[in-house]
Amino acid sequence: MRGLVRETTLSAADLICPMFVQMGEEDEPIESLPGCTRWSVSGLVRECRRLHGLGIPCVDLFGVVPERLKTPDGAEAHNPQGIVQRAIRALKAELPGLLVMTDVALDPYSSYGQDGIVRELPGGGVEVLNDETVEALVQQALSHAEAGADLISPSDMMDGRVAALRSALDERGYTQVSIMSYTSKYASALYGPFRGALGSAPKAGDKKGYQMDPANAREALREAALDEQEGADILMVKPATYYLDVIAAMRGQTKLPIAAYHVSGEYLMLKSAAASGWLDEKAATLEALVSIRRAGADMILTYAAPQVAEWLARRD
Ligand code: PBG
Repeated sequence: MRGLVRETTLSAADLICPMFVQMGEEDEPIESLPGCTRWSVSGLVRECRRLHGLGIPCVDLFGVVPERLKTPDGAEAHNPQGIVQRAIRALKAELPGLLVMTDVALDPYSSYGQDGIVRELPGGGVEVLNDETVEALVQQALSHAEAGADLISPSDMMDGRVAALRSALDERGYTQVSIMSYTSKYASALYGPFRGALGSAPKAGDKKGYQMDPANAREALREAALDEQEGADILMVKPATYYLDVIAAMRGQTKLPIAAYHVSGEYLMLKSAAASGWLDEKAATLEALVSIRRAGADMILTYAAPQVAEWLARRD
């Protein structure tokens, strides 16, 4: 009876799995994200075959690059032979039915650990330059599209980048490449484990110049209206569980699909609490994800995707 009257469903088909890929042959466990791995390209393909088999339709790629390849302009981001570009080609060759999304932002490639091109300020801080950054993001996105990416996901929060990406992609004939925009990405304390996984923490300053104030919800709706006008295909709210009100409000405003990113800190909180023995990991994780769906998200990016897909497969 509970099943018959249930209002919200959660299935593997709603999940997108963020994946980290690095150069070399090693697959390394990530200390800050228990259960996650920095994959070699061959390890990534193997794991993605398994995830696709579990019913996960899409993966989101993040490149891990060594310190020596990080530069002030983050130029490695658009290297056609870069790690993400190679991973996309390998995945599309081996698993053409799996959707490959890529993160577009400079932080893994920037010697400053910032999402864009920066200007050093007198006194030691840095300022991210909006328009210069948008040009760099366009280069990065085009190199991903050329390698075969299905979706581009700009996580940088620069103004006007969705319009710039859409028109650059269309001009080059990549009209089929979709844009999932990080529409309301908050300057959250919950990204620490992700930055640990990538070695991408800001070297100076923070990201408050471009990421949103956690105190603001109306601003998220303005961002949504802008992204929609600029041609985004999917809007994203990030993080997810602290921002369920934002997801619900955005659901009321737009007809576009909404994604929510259950971020590294949200994942680690569940893992750590479960490791203490006082929280049932499966029940708590499924409850968190159902709450995100109930708030109005169509799809969820989560590091728990592989585990959740296994749990759901067993239940069904
Ligand atoms: C950076 C980026 C971040 C995440 C995705 N892309 C972190 C940040 O803004 O510093 C966070 C993901 C997570 O915490 O799971 N472009």
